Amino acid sequence: MTERYRISINDLYSIDAEPGLSIFDSLHQAGYRMRVSCRNGVCQICKITLLQGHIEQRYPALKLCLLAEDKPAQVYACTAVPVSDIKIEIDGLLRPGELQMKKLVCDIAAVEQLSDDVYRVRLHLPVTGRQAIEFHAGQYLEIILPDQRRAAFSIASAPDLSSDIELHIRRIPEGEMSLAIIEYLTHNPRVEIELPKGDCYLEAEALAADTTVILAAASTGFSQIKSIAEHLLANQVSNPIHIYWGARAEADFYLHRLPLQWAAEHTNVQVHLVISEPQSSPDWTGRTALLPEAVVADFEHFENTEIFTSGSPAMVYALTDACEAKGLQMTQIHSDVFAYAPRQ
Ligand code: FES
Repeated sequence: MTERYRISINDLYSIDAEPGLSIFDSLHQAGYRMRVSCRNGVCQICKITLLQGHIEQRYPALKLCLLAEDKPAQVYACTAVPVSDIKIEIDGLLRPGELQMKKLVCDIAAVEQLSDDVYRVRLHLPVTGRQAIEFHAGQYLEIILPDQRRAAFSIASAPDLSSDIELHIRRIPEGEMSLAIIEYLTHNPRVEIELPKGDCYLEAEALAADTTVILAAASTGFSQIKSIAEHLLANQVSNPIHIYWGARAEADFYLHRLPLQWAAEHTNVQVHLVISEPQSSPDWTGRTALLPEAVVADFEHFENTEIFTSGSPAMVYALTDACEAKGLQMTQIHSDVFAYAPRQ
């Protein structure tokens, strides 16, 4: 039997090499993507660094590459077959599901004030960029101002629906960057962006049929769950989808008719609008609670459930703790907060 070797990549990931297959083919089968062209050892585009272990380079010339200790070698992934466990380094490798990050300049098609402090911004991708730009529902982009300051915003639109990109931006009076971004977007025709970013996303085809989806957002965190919800609905999934949107006051629901419309049109969608400071919303007849409390009150358990949540770190960790107390595993809850504000 041909032996299976281990391929360790960039000190981050590892896969089992398929017996007799090239490094490129093994990576490809495991869902990784890298630059490749001729696939026969001629163009050299697939050059990678072999840091440890031995390979057989089958083309352009059959040779065995046995590394002297600590002496990396350049090999061609398309025709190099591991003959031991190996360690390699690859520039520009994309993990399974990871998309190529790109910078581009797009037109600012509209800036519309949705509430006292939230603006909806529509960005129009250039014709040449439309096909090249891919993102997953739930990912974010960065706006890059001419002085190179950057700010991150969740993409509020679904990748399936339009070539335009929608953002929801809150104006924070004491927030210098938020004021600079809104000032720039309202007075200029174009803006530079970089996308896609973030590991908190959901692909409809990856969703098991028996999974319940909970989308829980506070404030403009709604933008991220809007993208995910619209992606799921565009793909006509029949999974139960529970959408929680929490705010301090009723006036903070800057697009509340939209999720209510989803619920009216799709029997698998339930929407829960929750406010935490009823004293500032005298006409409010809906639910009053903190968002984490509302979610855990509605579920006996979280088996076969995936939660996507967006909001402040305090809210996200409060929700995480409350759901964990009812049996949720950390692998079932997803938020960008876990990456940018990890618990100490
Ligand atoms: S793809 Fe051309 S040498 Fe590997």
